[in-house]
Amino acid sequence: MPTASDRRTFAIISHPDAGKTTLTEKLLLFGGAIHLAGEVKARGAARRARSDWMKIEQQRGISVTSSVMTFEREGVTFNLLDTPGHEDFSEDTYRTLTAVDSAVMVIDVAKGIESQTRKLFEVCRLRNVPIITFVNKVDREGRAVFETLDEVADLLQLDVTPMTWPVGMGGAFEGIYDLRSNRLLLPEGPSREFQGKVVETTGLDDPKLDELLSAEGVAKLREDAELAMAGYAEFDGEAYRNGDLTPVYFGSALKEFGVDSLIKAVAEHAPPPRPQPAEPAPVDPSNPEVTGFVFKVQANMDPNHRDRIAFMRLCSGTFKRGMKLTPTGHGKPIAVHSPILFFARERELADEAFPGDIIGIPNHGTLRVGDTLSERADVRFTGLPNFAPEILRRVALKDPTKTKQLRKALDDMAEEGVTQVFYPEIGSNWIIGVVGQLQLEVLLSRLDAEYKVAAGLEPAPFDTARWVSSEDSADLKTFADLNRTAMAKDRDGNPVFLAKSAWEVGYVADRYPKVRFAATRER
Ligand code: G4P
Repeated sequence: MPTASDRRTFAIISHPDAGKTTLTEKLLLFGGAIHLAGEVKARGAARRARSDWMKIEQQRGISVTSSVMTFEREGVTFNLLDTPGHEDFSEDTYRTLTAVDSAVMVIDVAKGIESQTRKLFEVCRLRNVPIITFVNKVDREGRAVFETLDEVADLLQLDVTPMTWPVGMGGAFEGIYDLRSNRLLLPEGPSREFQGKVVETTGLDDPKLDELLSAEGVAKLREDAELAMAGYAEFDGEAYRNGDLTPVYFGSALKEFGVDSLIKAVAEHAPPPRPQPAEPAPVDPSNPEVTGFVFKVQANMDPNHRDRIAFMRLCSGTFKRGMKLTPTGHGKPIAVHSPILFFARERELADEAFPGDIIGIPNHGTLRVGDTLSERADVRFTGLPNFAPEILRRVALKDPTKTKQLRKALDDMAEEGVTQVFYPEIGSNWIIGVVGQLQLEVLLSRLDAEYKVAAGLEPAPFDTARWVSSEDSADLKTFADLNRTAMAKDRDGNPVFLAKSAWEVGYVADRYPKVRFAATRER
């Protein structure tokens, strides 16, 4: 009987080019989910061809949408959530990271911690998401192992525990030694890949090592490993799960080194679903009531249907197909007849799902990012905010007869969390807000391709936005009346103050101490 404790729901965080796609492919391959390496990319390309509205994705060669892949191995079900790698998508990525219990951080051995890795790491830290580190590309020349370990420790303020050690790198690469199981993984064949050749040893002193490795290689391995074991913290599962320590694995996704150890590490050490922050109280996975939250909504996965798929992370209970779930705070119960589980091979219909699993719920726009769904509608998950936009633009319609289509498009995309929309109290110049520049291009491209609306973007007289509220509605009304030219409503009708600068927000907030100016909003 599957339970929440068999689930490992995780994401891979990395800087573009560190090898996330290659590693994902190999994880799925080792997990038995696909039979030929290369299928992830092929599937990706096929998927992109289908969603041709997403032209930017092809032009820029980046993956704008995030997806879910599920695979099983030795009784453990892994749910791997793909995080968009582009730094402009911090908001979307942030939300995806709210749905995982742990993360694998991939770094390129030649480059170390890069900017995007660092940002994603900070998001994980905010939520105490534990991290396993995979140092990739040891088949190439890279930085010294100690340098890499120290950089992770210093920059990220974490204890590090090397779990495996590369014997040489680049041209001198001879294999990977597992410091805990004392197994040596050796390359084979002309391309020097890992093809399953593992030698058990009794430890670093085992004379077998002298036979299998070059004299130089083995001497350095012994010296380094001894220094490392003395110099770095011992592995401590609790410190890892608290986010204070990261176990570090070395490998080469391309040559399949270290991938197997990584899967085992996730199965053995990564936490199963944890209690999720919610009101009135955190929800434990053992709670029998089915609860979950929507962390992503994706439209037009299938252009033949205008449906959208809400990605829900299940937090408690056993979900069964056909079950009725109610969005907290709004809406009627929804009977979930055709939930989708995201197996790598194809999208499969889910009959049952457990805490930690992600299910796709097709709907016509009723479900939104941040929604809680539950059997009794008596809880609300917290911590899935909308962020105050950092870029505001006025939308200029080229054909004035398309106002209705434009409004629908802007509302739809606000629902999906692609952009935010603000309708000013005065005037008809709708304003959209984004956190990153690329979202503006996504917006225009989709307006044109999906909604047949030709529009341009103009500078807005505002720079940022704050959701305003007050204990006393009279205070809020006074504020709104006196600042009408800067007041707007968001997609849900909440009052928003549009400011010319962050400085103005501070200035106004000082003058109206009874009004709250929030940079994030939770639904
Ligand atoms: P990303 O998703 O993090 O952006 O990275 P991706 O896996 O696409 O890998 C980026 C490049 O690094 C690819 O090369 C890939 O083959 C290479 N790579 C990934 N892992 C390893 C590794 O362990 N060792 C070596 N030597 N290279 C690795 P590319 O030339 O850009 O693409 P491709 O033409 O090979 O597909």
